[in-house]
Amino acid sequence: MKQITKAVFPVAGMGSRFLPATKASPKEMMPVVDKPLIQYAVEEAVAAGITDMVFITGRNKRAIEDHFDKAYELEAELAANNKDKLLSLVQEVIPSHINCIYIRQSEPLGLGHAVLCAKPVVQDEPFAVILADDLIDGEPPIIKQMAEIFRQYQCSILGVQEVPRELTYQYGIVRSTPLTDDLEQVSAIVEKPKPADAPSTLAVVGRYILTPRIFHHLAKVQAGAGGEIQLTDGIAALMQEERMLAYRFKGTRYDCGSKLGYLKAMVALGLKHPEVCDEFAAYLNSLGQTGSRH
Ligand code: UTP
Repeated sequence: MKQITKAVFPVAGMGSRFLPATKASPKEMMPVVDKPLIQYAVEEAVAAGITDMVFITGRNKRAIEDHFDKAYELEAELAANNKDKLLSLVQEVIPSHINCIYIRQSEPLGLGHAVLCAKPVVQDEPFAVILADDLIDGEPPIIKQMAEIFRQYQCSILGVQEVPRELTYQYGIVRSTPLTDDLEQVSAIVEKPKPADAPSTLAVVGRYILTPRIFHHLAKVQAGAGGEIQLTDGIAALMQEERMLAYRFKGTRYDCGSKLGYLKAMVALGLKHPEVCDEFAAYLNSLGQTGSRH
């Protein structure tokens, strides 16, 4: 029986919806309260028992590498000033048993191409794909939920959620039949369909477990919508020969690739953060009372 030990984090996109913030640093380094998006994603993988983190990086990759590297000077300074709490915060960014592997995607040719870049490291094993800009607050963490389903079914699994029909053009949408309350057997997937053409309102969001056969199909995919090599096209080909499930995960998703989703995440996680939650809640209440928008 196979287990998921590798997670792929595609972080080489342009992040154009967040310019100018993403001009010189990747959007995955944008913080929600006090942690960058990529750290939430890596923590989710660690919680699922994954030990090899494979980052597909592009331009401006340094910030991510530095974030998960040892920061000798910073640590020495914090230690010298007896700032023990801060020191452990910095040291706990990545547990010592975790391997970080960086692969460069030389051109942003699309999410499918980014995943294909992971092939030399993933090789012949099933693996997780986590898009850090989809921040999903769930307990247990979403990839842990999906890894447990994988243990049982040993096939590819797509993380899905219902979206309003008018928004189907933003997502990969599946056609499926229910197997259980939260699992669906997928028979088709369409990238960004118009609301009228969408086979359902069940959208794939940034969590996948894929079998290594996906690489065979991604290598053959031609550039599709937007001139990019789409992961959706590889998945569509894979489901012609292997079982594909969709899992309605339990959790709240924030699309942190968009300004509104990012702001919502900041509010939701700010209200949960032990250091600031009470004062932040009082502040939000005060805004509600005055109706202030400034
Ligand atoms: P998005 O569709 O969100 O694209 O990619 P983007 O370029 O990051 O952002 P916008 O649309 O220009 O604002 C989904 C995920 O796939 C990665 C991105 O980093 C993001 O995590 N990606 C996308 C790559 O790694 N390489 C690519 O060529 C494209």
